[in-house]
Amino acid sequence: MPRVCQWEQSSVSRRFSPTNSSRTDFLRTTAGGEHAPDVIFNPGKLSPADSVDFCGACHGTWPGTVRAGLNGLFSIRQQPYRLQNSKCWGKSQGDARITCVACHDPHGAVVQEPSFYDAKCLNCHVATPSVKPGGDHPGAWCPVGTRDCVSCHMPKIEIPVMHRAFADHQIRIVRSGQPLLN
Ligand code: HEC
Ligand code: HEC
Ligand code: HEC
Ligand code: HEC
Repeated sequence: MPRVCQWEQSSVSRRFSPTNSSRTDFLRTTAGGEHAPDVIFNPGKLSPADSVDFCGACHGTWPGTVRAGLNGLFSIRQQPYRLQNSKCWGKSQGDARITCVACHDPHGAVVQEPSFYDAKCLNCHVATPSVKPGGDHPGAWCPVGTRDCVSCHMPKIEIPVMHRAFADHQIRIVRSGQPLLN
């Protein structure tokens, strides 16, 4: 069965109700509404940070994750939190090339072929040591691999009680024996 985002399904929307007027709740309510208008569900038109918050209304925003006190293994499913902790996100407002919709089509099935994501990484990382990072390619070259980047830098982490592994969206160098960050 293809795995797709369920944001449009009313069973999801019923889980959320307007509890207060904060922006996240507004987005959550709107995104989960029975007839969410396309004009609002167009994360590509939002700023990178707002776009990630939009998805984070259900997938776990950075502040929401901190408030809930989730970290380490317990934060693996909070993709926006993990992603925004990555060096790739940067310190500022992010970059359209590293939002959720840069890698995922929320209307389609999640792509499970690692090589699909290589081009996403190489939008920002230089591909050879002869090119210095800078300009529109601020990311360094990898001395270890040239393809299937996510297989090493976004490892699948098993959540024991769920019997399912989740890709760690905190893109990083993984060292054996190192505890999960944050
Ligand atoms: C109204 C809530 C809601 C919003 C908003 C939402 N999602 Fe989802 N999404 C879900 C639920 C529920 C699932 C299924 C459970 C899970 O995997 O966490 C899901 C699953 C997914 C999956 C994985 C499918 C799988 O199981 O492998 C992806 C990828 C995804 N969403 C991307 C996005 C992106 C990108 C956005 C923002 C454009 C977004 N979602 C916004 C509720 C939402
Ligand atoms: C929006 C641009 C952008 C995208 C897209 C991006 N990165 Fe990065 N990434 C950076 C920047 C900037 C840094 C910090 C400078 C550096 O270490 O190269 C970084 C750092 C890294 C680091 C070093 C992290 C550390 O802990 O030192 C790794 C590994 C990495 N990126 C891998 C990836 C992989 C794999 C992908 C694709 C899945 C990816 N990046 C996508 C911009 C990006
Ligand atoms: C640089 C590429 C990249 C970005 C950016 C990205 N993802 Fe993913 N995502 C992946 C990869 C790779 C997988 C694992 C796919 C597979 O093999 O199942 C994944 C899987 C998922 C899944 C399925 C469950 C899991 O964790 O394996 C969800 C849900 C998800 N992403 C949500 C998001 C959300 C929400 C955002 C924005 C905060 C986001 N992703 C940003 C690459 C990305
Ligand atoms: C086989 C696993 C593997 C693959 C595949 C892989 N990497 Fe790496 N990468 C590593 C390891 C391990 C390091 C740490 C090297 C070290 O510091 O000794 C690293 C380091 C990096 C760094 C930090 C370099 C620096 O100078 O700070 C970046 C950026 C990076 N990788 C990006 C990528 C990108 C982009 C891809 C795909 C084009 C990729 N990696 C493919 C394992 C991998």
